[in-house]
Amino acid sequence: MLLEDFKVLENKRVNGNYFLMKLSSQNLAEKCKAGQFFMLKMKNEITILRRPISIHNVDKQNGVIEFYYEVKGRGTIEMADKQEGDLINLQGPLGNGFKTDYEGKTLLIVGGGMGLAPLKYLVEELKSPEKNNKIIFIAGGRNKGALEILKNFNFGGIEFHIVTDDGSLGNKGNVIEMMKEIVQEKHIDAVMSCGPHRVLELVGEVAGKKEIYAEISLEERMACGVKACVGCSIKTLQGMKKVCHDGPVFDSKIIVEVNPKDNEPCSCS
Ligand code: FES
Repeated sequence: MLLEDFKVLENKRVNGNYFLMKLSSQNLAEKCKAGQFFMLKMKNEITILRRPISIHNVDKQNGVIEFYYEVKGRGTIEMADKQEGDLINLQGPLGNGFKTDYEGKTLLIVGGGMGLAPLKYLVEELKSPEKNNKIIFIAGGRNKGALEILKNFNFGGIEFHIVTDDGSLGNKGNVIEMMKEIVQEKHIDAVMSCGPHRVLELVGEVAGKKEIYAEISLEERMACGVKACVGCSIKTLQGMKKVCHDGPVFDSKIIVEVNPKDNEPCSCS
């Protein structure tokens, strides 16, 4: 784990309150796993606590790490002000990340809203030609505007389905209905998901009924990010776990309750 200042390469508004930040570090890029996150600290110290932000994508070849984030509080307002060449202090990569050592498998990835942010790098990791996996990706959101993030995805070589609540992009419906159809029709070896808490609960339920191994990435409030407080503790069938250290990715079968704590900084935002 590193704790260093890194240079901002680019930080731009994608749509509304959604921003994409790119940082430069060859060393760091090589250490990142899909589903991990960083604790980001602003240089001027106005915001004392670090912000947990999930890794959106990594370009190992060029040493670039991307964060897709929503501006919704003092920390992220400050983050959005960063310009090319500014420094930002990062602690990480933190957390366990998704399992990505599948080969020749059919994998279903389900993402909703800001939960799509960590899934870009996951898709890239799983679809590499030498792994020979078949990737089915379901992306959902309230409306077309909430899915601007999909412009950053490369859908080449994967089967993808887009659903929105209002039908303004893709099919009208939700990711769970689509998931039920797919697991009914096809053999799925594993499911991976990140999104709203209710979506994660239902992903676990649908996968469980079909006895499919499912990993869900939990959003939880985080103060330290390094298992030094109790802010992110959750109850599981294997005892109390810390989302920042034992997760944020968990086997859905051990989760007792996906507990929403709204308005708190989490690793998906
Ligand atoms: Fe402090 Fe996880 S955020 S223990």
